[in-house]
Amino acid sequence: MSQGRFITFEGGEGAGKSTQMDLLAGLLRQRGLRVLTTREPGGAVGAEQIRRLLVEGEPGRWDPMTEVLLHFAARRDHVARTVWPALAEGQWVLCDRFADSTMAYQGYGHGLPSHAIEQLYDMTLGLFVPDLTLILDLPVEEGLRRAAGRGGAEDRYERMGMAFHERLRHGFTEIARHHPQRCVLVQATASVEDVHARIRSVVEERLPMQA
Ligand SMILES: Nc1ncnc2c1ncn2[C@@H]1O[C@H](COP(=O)(O)OP(=O)(O)O)[C@@H](O)[C@H]1O
Ligand SMILES: [Mg+2]
Repeated sequence: MSQGRFITFEGGEGAGKSTQMDLLAGLLRQRGLRVLTTREPGGAVGAEQIRRLLVEGEPGRWDPMTEVLLHFAARRDHVARTVWPALAEGQWVLCDRFADSTMAYQGYGHGLPSHAIEQLYDMTLGLFVPDLTLILDLPVEEGLRRAAGRGGAEDRYERMGMAFHERLRHGFTEIARHHPQRCVLVQATASVEDVHARIRSVVEERLPMQA
């Protein structure tokens, strides 16, 4: 049985995370790999219930620390119930957002200290980290325009204002700079096909795809 891998997709609203995750999943399946796609917040029954508390409603409904605790509660449920069992079976797990989003949104965005977020990570997941993180980078206005075109009720974070979104874009580029072994910053302004081709070459280079 081949070894499972854990790949996360990160970036601001409308950067193309969900689109690119689905395309990569298709490519990996064509190569004969077993692939699970999942998302955060969510990805398990309890975590999806917590998701609704986070992505719907008024932008100011939680104070930042409460928001972080909800994200880590959802993450622990998701990883313990969905991600770890799939990896143990040798599946490739692709995840739409993961812990870097918490650092970007609640750390850089809301100004919570990074050490508090790192401590919560250690407590809930220990040494477990993604094998590869693809951070999609796009000007804030373009991302929000794309996200608005998508519609839906899950727009709590989209409504947090331009300055917030600029801070989290900066945060994601800092995270990529601090973790060059794990993270690759991908320019997301190009067409869907060109971004996919770039992601394909990064995955081929970093993670051998034997079925
Ligand atoms: N490279 C791209 N160029 C133009 N539009 C895109 C591109 N990638 C995605 N989109 C569109 O932008 C919207 C947001 O993409 P999505 O994958 O949902 O972003 P995210 O999951 O990062 O919020 C969707 O309507 C999608 O079809
Ligand atoms: Mg998405």
